[in-house]
Amino acid sequence: MQFYDRIRLELDELRTLGRYRVLPDISARNGKDIVVNGQNLLNLSSNDYLGLGDDKPMLAGYIQEFNATDHAMTSSSSRLLTGNHPLYGQLEQALATLYGREAALVFNSGYHANIGMLPALSGRHDLVLSDRLNHASIIDGMKIAEAPYQRYRHRDYGHLEELLVEAADRYRQIFIVTESVFSMDGDLADLAQLVALKEKYGAFLIVDEAHGVGVFGEHGLGLCETAGMVQKIDIITGTFGKALASTGAYAVMNSLVREYLLNTMRSIIFTTALPPVILGWSLLTLARQSAMHHERQELLRLASSLRHELLERGLDVPGDSHIVPVITGGNNLAVALAARLREAGFLCMPVRPPTVPEKSARIRISLRSNLQWDDIARIPELIGG
Ligand SMILES: Cc1ncc(COP(=O)(O)O)c(C=O)c1O
Repeated sequence: MQFYDRIRLELDELRTLGRYRVLPDISARNGKDIVVNGQNLLNLSSNDYLGLGDDKPMLAGYIQEFNATDHAMTSSSSRLLTGNHPLYGQLEQALATLYGREAALVFNSGYHANIGMLPALSGRHDLVLSDRLNHASIIDGMKIAEAPYQRYRHRDYGHLEELLVEAADRYRQIFIVTESVFSMDGDLADLAQLVALKEKYGAFLIVDEAHGVGVFGEHGLGLCETAGMVQKIDIITGTFGKALASTGAYAVMNSLVREYLLNTMRSIIFTTALPPVILGWSLLTLARQSAMHHERQELLRLASSLRHELLERGLDVPGDSHIVPVITGGNNLAVALAARLREAGFLCMPVRPPTVPEKSARIRISLRSNLQWDDIARIPELIGG
């Protein structure tokens, strides 16, 4: 079959399976709302968990300051060549200080961080153990890495320990990798238990806090702060593109690991550095979010009220965070539910396989601290009747 015929057929198949993706036509964002395909909707699909992306005074102040400096719109080369603007050093120092860790490293995105880290740190004599529901970027990192990998059942640390026992003495180094707040289920890793296992078996623990940063912990460092594990996790990664309302990602670690990554991590060596305008903005939002503890508490309270109302209606609503999924099972059901919510003025995107496991399609309600109960009060009835 000709190439073009084959990919046309594959696209038809995706349509039949209810997995076909299209880019939404987004013409405006108005505070809590977003205009999609001409319709004004309450945006419940954004990762701007603290509403910082909509903080117009902060943005206006930054643009004014930006006009008065030489912050360029490009870094024009890799950090290892001429792209290492002084703002990188300031941002990494701010991160290390905030976490009380030796060192930090900034990446172009969470995707870059996750596809680069495991391939850099591990080799064919090592083993990676990964939570079954880890994000696609972590899975891609494992596929690129030379080390073999195994997936333990989601948050099943008994299963993880079985794999650790089986693997003991057979590998040079074992890596455990997990998200802290799982992006599609909104449930939480037990970081204390993971640290205990890592210590018992001499493993190296990597925790992706993409959805925990800004939302958990007194200073917004994530679930590692709530769990009192900031010092004990080998590498904690976070993204700037979600609660921190910017672009890029970071990891905190010890100085030796930082030095090693700078020398071996292809997704930092072979890519153009972030533009200074973004680094300066990230410095600002990082400092701002660390003082937003009240907003974090309000957000988690709102999420718990919504979850309670949905569970009362007998719906399948896993998790324990600001990400509130409602599992429908079938793809078409999720799409129909999202359409019903959209008609009523709410944007909650359906999430389908392969993003989530087969038969676990869902809508994912993503809450933000600048929403009030009145904004979402109609949702439980719209979903559960
Ligand atoms: C758990 C997790 N890690 C990493 C990423 C990727 O981060 P970025 O959007 O900065 O590439 C995401 C994005 O959705 C994520 O959910």
